[in-house]
Amino acid sequence: MAKDKKLFVCAACGTAHNKWQGQCAGCGAWNTLVEERPPADKPGQGLSLKGRGTMPIVSLGASEIPPPRLLSGIPEFDRVCGGGLVAGAAFLVGGDPGIGKSTLLLQLAAKLSHQVSCLYVTGEESVAQVRLRARRLGVESAPLGLAAATDVREILAAMEDNKDLKLVVVDSIQTLYADILDSAPGTVAQVRLCAHELIRAAKKHDCIVLIVGHVTKDGAIAGPKVLEHMVDAVLYFEGDRGHAYRILRTVKNRFGATDEIGVFSMGDSGLAEVNNPSALFLSGRQQAVSGSAVFAGVEGTRPLLVEIQALVAPAPYGTPRRTTVGWDNNRLAMLLAVLETRGGISFTDKEVYLNVAGGLKITEPAADLAVAAALVSAWTNTPAPAEAVFFGEIGLSGEVRRVGQPDTRLKEAVKLGFSHAFTALGTAAPAGLTIAPVGEVRALRGLLN
Ligand code: TYD
Ligand code: MG
Repeated sequence: MAKDKKLFVCAACGTAHNKWQGQCAGCGAWNTLVEERPPADKPGQGLSLKGRGTMPIVSLGASEIPPPRLLSGIPEFDRVCGGGLVAGAAFLVGGDPGIGKSTLLLQLAAKLSHQVSCLYVTGEESVAQVRLRARRLGVESAPLGLAAATDVREILAAMEDNKDLKLVVVDSIQTLYADILDSAPGTVAQVRLCAHELIRAAKKHDCIVLIVGHVTKDGAIAGPKVLEHMVDAVLYFEGDRGHAYRILRTVKNRFGATDEIGVFSMGDSGLAEVNNPSALFLSGRQQAVSGSAVFAGVEGTRPLLVEIQALVAPAPYGTPRRTTVGWDNNRLAMLLAVLETRGGISFTDKEVYLNVAGGLKITEPAADLAVAAALVSAWTNTPAPAEAVFFGEIGLSGEVRRVGQPDTRLKEAVKLGFSHAFTALGTAAPAGLTIAPVGEVRALRGLLN
């Protein structure tokens, strides 16, 4: 008889390996491989169709009723979901431990429980602890169902028995287990099976399921990455523990746009919506300081103004440091090379520090021009105009390119009292704002002086 074949699956990305190894060949993470029993396969035979169920087939054009959406009454959350929660959808809410996932979902479920029947299942806290938290959040009188469970069967049974349940929060997937598997809760096999069962139940009962998943760095517990393809939407809750604000970001959404964000601030009585995030991110800005430029960004459909700060210091010895917070290191290296080659500004004997103020992470290439302006301003020790915003992508030949949604960016700038915008040529200005066109990075030096 053939020896039992073993399979090692990466907890971070799900790549399968035939033997154990320290580093995953798929994503490069260390110590993330865990053993999993492969399914008993019978080559050539395929699946038996005996006792099969039937699969109802409907015509694409037949259904005219779009799936109903449930509005939570928390506009920041509804927008992130693409305009409300779709019935029967399975959501994964990921984020670092302690960032506020349980707080957000308890507030959401409590709010929704006034409209439909909702259940909050906790595997991490006791019912009494959740009650305490609810009291702190001021939602203790909400008609929300509460349960402490770690056996996925109990949750499935509750969904089966309470047909009027419209929303279930499961906090968190890493604490759940199914007794048909030997492995411990939190392993890839358990996480996958429990999530699969919950998603199936969601579709069967037309009940929204929100699954919390902790993102872990050491890989000992299966990360939400292995679940991303299974669920309908993936929301990440992020933020800096040192700052009060938190950002809910759509990474995947089968029912709406991705890259949408919702901004919240964590206070003594839980999470509050931030309606004007640009004002929040610019609140600590000092004017007339060199090395600072305001970037007019867009996250999804949402304009967001943030301050980019650069510091250029002499490098005393060796390879000068390049450190970024909230921005890609490789992109900084590219911009420094472009500024040096095309703009004649050399950073070779300088240390460069770049910071996105407020702890926000920016991934838009449109921030290139603001970063370049902050760098040039730091290098020349001249403050950039305080009443100006910057946006535009910079190419390798030093050209400044147009980026998407210029009107949204400019309108937000006007709203916050900015009068000038440095951006690519050919951008139309809205009323109350003057465009200072920048064709190439070379021109920045002259424009800032
Ligand atoms: P929590 O929702 O438990 O995080 P997660 O579920 O993502 O692990 O949030 C825990 C943090 O939030 C904790 O550090 C305390 C803070 N917090 C507040 O600041 N105010 C509040 O009203 C609540 C409930 C929590
Ligand atoms: Mg929690």
